[in-house]
Amino acid sequence: MTIAGFPEDFVWGVSTSAFQIEGATSADGRTPSIWDTFTADRAEACDHYHRYPEDVRLMKELGMAAYRFSVSWTRVFPDDSGKVNQAGLDFYDRLVDELTGAGITPYATLYHWDLPQWAEDAGGWPARDTACRFADYAAAVHERLGDRVGTWFTLNEPWVAAFLGYGSGVHAPGRASAPDAFRAAHHMLLAHGLGVRALRDAGAAEVGAVLNISPVMTPAQVSDFGRTLSEEDAEAVARIDALVNRQFLEPMLRGAYPAELLEIAERHGGLGHVRDGDLDVIAQPLDLLGVNYYTPLVVQAQPSEPAGAAFPGSEGILFCTIPTAVTAMGWPIVPNCLALLLDRLSGEYPDLDLMITENGADFVDVVTGDGIHDVDRISFVEEHLRALRGAVEKGAKVRGYLVWTLLDNLEWADGYQRKFGLVHVDFATQKRRLKDSALWYRDVISRNGLTEARPRRPTLETVAARAGVSRATVSRVVNGESSVSSEVRATVMRAVREIGYVPNAAARSLVTRRTNAVALVLSVPRQGGDALTAAVVQSVVQYVTSLLEGAGKQITLMLADTAESHRRIVAHVEGRLADGVVLLPPDRGDTLAERLSRTEVPVVLLGKPPIASMVPYVDVDNAGGAAAATDHLVSLGRRRIGMICGPMDLVTVQDRLAGHRTALRRAGLRPHLAVADDLTRAAGTAATHRLLGDDPELDAVFAATDQLAIGALTAAREAGRRVPEDLAVVGFDDVDAASATTPALTTVRVPVADQALALARLLLSRLEGRHTTSVVLPARLVVRESA
Ligand code: FCB
Repeated sequence: MTIAGFPEDFVWGVSTSAFQIEGATSADGRTPSIWDTFTADRAEACDHYHRYPEDVRLMKELGMAAYRFSVSWTRVFPDDSGKVNQAGLDFYDRLVDELTGAGITPYATLYHWDLPQWAEDAGGWPARDTACRFADYAAAVHERLGDRVGTWFTLNEPWVAAFLGYGSGVHAPGRASAPDAFRAAHHMLLAHGLGVRALRDAGAAEVGAVLNISPVMTPAQVSDFGRTLSEEDAEAVARIDALVNRQFLEPMLRGAYPAELLEIAERHGGLGHVRDGDLDVIAQPLDLLGVNYYTPLVVQAQPSEPAGAAFPGSEGILFCTIPTAVTAMGWPIVPNCLALLLDRLSGEYPDLDLMITENGADFVDVVTGDGIHDVDRISFVEEHLRALRGAVEKGAKVRGYLVWTLLDNLEWADGYQRKFGLVHVDFATQKRRLKDSALWYRDVISRNGLTEARPRRPTLETVAARAGVSRATVSRVVNGESSVSSEVRATVMRAVREIGYVPNAAARSLVTRRTNAVALVLSVPRQGGDALTAAVVQSVVQYVTSLLEGAGKQITLMLADTAESHRRIVAHVEGRLADGVVLLPPDRGDTLAERLSRTEVPVVLLGKPPIASMVPYVDVDNAGGAAAATDHLVSLGRRRIGMICGPMDLVTVQDRLAGHRTALRRAGLRPHLAVADDLTRAAGTAATHRLLGDDPELDAVFAATDQLAIGALTAAREAGRRVPEDLAVVGFDDVDAASATTPALTTVRVPVADQALALARLLLSRLEGRHTTSVVLPARLVVRESA
């Protein structure tokens, strides 16, 4: 086995932060921080305050050399009296002893976003005094731990703390004021400078800061870093870089703010808070810079765009969504950006030592009887480590790498739903369980490198063995063939889930060849007018095409309308003339999706397929949308609500009917249904006449699609019923025509651009061999005149 090794003294470890894991929020004199006040979640977190011996033991078992933790300011100074609370420091004393006893080097971060509430009440970071208080706090912590802690970080990610805490208000303390955000940022920088001085005066061995540094680029640069930019785009990139990265890097490392930044801050409250001499204080020599990297910032010039609250001064700049694979946070995964970033820092600050102090990912984990097979997290870390190794080989002075994070924890405003840990935490019992990523990381640490071979994914054979069936049966189930009994299907799917099997078609096409082409297969129904949502599909096709082309793919559009065209499409894909297929939408009753998925070329579908399979799809929440439409009719006082269903073999129609029934049941009402033969307006008119014939008192109609609803409007007119007075009508899809009817149609909007983006992302993820899950997007009620 060949090994892609790291330098001999390379440091491996993990990072955490106090508020996210400690819990025990009132133990030993601790008082609330701004996050205790702000968060909607219970703050018991991982109860690390009491369980730290177990957590340290886990790190030791995994072979960690370093642990970066943060200190909670309110444990040390519970109030504004300036009196140190030794009982609060006792905890860190015990923790540090435990770490050193286990042979793990402690790195302490002094400020990871949990400002004491008393300091916020006195003005918070926009007030200068907070910076002075920080220096006292730094000295007090060093006084107690400085004999065992050699490496100190002042602040963690001041951009986030200032601009999300005081600019957009999505983080604590939840203030939304651009002037406050700039003042907060400056005072954090000042706190850093004063803190470094205090630590050095006290004899600290090494001092640094931790910044979130995101490469800023345009969508086109994501796949081609070297792409030259138009003047407007170059300006947009430089401006966001100044706001997010250089606002902190340059004062700390060069003693000056970037000119663009000063000009922006001047327009947002002015620079009265920046005093002579501040920049000298801020620019203390540093021993190392901690770099937190997760994802790039992707922007482009867009003249009419207003500034976002977290980016005051970003007028005329659009933050772009790009069709790359994403984590569960929705953060694009671009590992090479880490190398790009390290190259840049090494070029601009050649003497500075660097350390990756955070990098990691949130993915949905499945706990199974035999472990948590978090293959996505492993690939994420592995790909970033490969990029990092490349940068180190080119000369970047990176001392080490710390994964974010040890434990699943309280992820700030997102609460407990985010899973960044190498170790799973059951928050009901506080039980810790190592995920596969923890074991994999242990091996990386022990060999000080990566194996050249990528980690092995579970195979079809493993699933077959677990389920006690043949390989062919597994393949049939995975591909959604209908010939397998439901019991066998259930057993196989259970094994698939437990083992974390991901059909790995991409690996196969890698060893064969890549065409860079994607087939976009558009099912054209055989009887005209039967397309469930033809207009929606058309727009999705347009969006998906431009997104995939933007990602460098060549699109072959193929129409699936006749048996002959189906044969041609399957042959095209079997002949590997495409790397992947997007099928929009799978036509009912035909077997094209099933046949394509058997070719082992990645396939993604628009719309949930009729037979559950592992082919991922993008759909809208049809049941939820129908329930919202029905609730709306009920809230208008309608009690005799009829529904026009389309052909019942359409999955979408089944789901919309299910949502309608649920809402009726909640309201204590009974369903009145009429099934239209197809989805034309004429069918909607005929079905409405039937409903009215069955129940002359009918006061509302919910139609499964807008076309049917438009037909219902005609029927109402023919029957002399006024809409909405005598008969309220609601449709579904929000096609263009819906706003042009008389009266304009109340309907449920299907998010077209979002569906296209999700489809493009799903396909690109599958092409990269990533694990993918289907996506169901919310559908929103649009109230117009008809109900
Ligand atoms: C970083 C924070 C860390 C955690 C990760 C996901 O910005 O420093 O606390 O929230 O993001």
